[in-house]
Amino acid sequence: MTNTLKEILAEVKAHTGLNFAQYQREVVVGRIADRMAALGCPATEDYWERLRGNRQESNLLAESIFINVTRFFRNPIVFEILAQRIFPALLGSKRAAGSRELRIWSAGCASGEEPYSVAILLKEILQFDPQLWTTHIFATDLDEGALAEAEAGVYPEDRLDDTKMGLVRKYFRAQGDTFEVLPEIRGMVRFSRDDVTSLEMGAPADSVFGGFDLIFFRNVLIYLNKDLQRSVCEKLEHALNDGGYLILGAAEGLPRGLTGRFTALDSANRIYRKNV
Ligand SMILES: C[S@@+](CC[C@H](N)C(=O)[O-])C[C@H]1O[C@@H](n2cnc3c(N)ncnc32)[C@H](O)[C@@H]1O
Repeated sequence: MTNTLKEILAEVKAHTGLNFAQYQREVVVGRIADRMAALGCPATEDYWERLRGNRQESNLLAESIFINVTRFFRNPIVFEILAQRIFPALLGSKRAAGSRELRIWSAGCASGEEPYSVAILLKEILQFDPQLWTTHIFATDLDEGALAEAEAGVYPEDRLDDTKMGLVRKYFRAQGDTFEVLPEIRGMVRFSRDDVTSLEMGAPADSVFGGFDLIFFRNVLIYLNKDLQRSVCEKLEHALNDGGYLILGAAEGLPRGLTGRFTALDSANRIYRKNV
């Protein structure tokens, strides 16, 4: 890492508390280049001069490093596999163990589309189940702006491009050009700010302890360097119950060293089951 890059990241950390030193270098450098272009800075040193002592610019750079592109039912095949294979298997094993509780974590949930999609899917699956289930869906991110959007639950139409029309009609209220998630779904998801890379916290504080049946960790790993990828995935493995599921993003894979602790349920779709 060059000295200027180190200084830039130290400045961002001082203003925002966010440490990007172990994020992929290309991602960080690419976002700095975007900010330089926006401000008309010809060289990194010029950008450093603009950034020094400037809290607002630190926030803007941090926001652009958190790429929070997402949508409802992103990679729809994953949600089909959840509906056809994972939830039936999970519910079956819970019933056999005399439990009626499911615990799910969406880590790096951005503006909430992923955990709300899971809530909708569960609502659909459990509506015909004669037994009463308790579902806990914890959704966490570091980006406060994204979390505020998630709490508001109102989205532009293009975020629903992968969502079946029947589900849009059933679980959203159209408001002009936007769509609001209905309260019955909003009430199923608990959002909080949490740094998934923090090794002090094994699971989101809200969840009190891990014990998750299913963890979504999609499209976050690609931004972290190899060391951090490994330590975060180890943490998630500890937070999962034996036999629990971990779902990564389409372009991601389990770091080397962890593959022996999971069985790939569907390697093409990055769905892994923790070995019992
Ligand atoms: C591309 S979005 C992924 C959203 C969703 N999981 C999906 O796949 O559609 C990446 C998210 O990871 C979040 N993120 C990045 N670093 C994080 C960290 N250390 N802890 C928690 N969230 C983080 C970003 O703020 C961003 O919202």
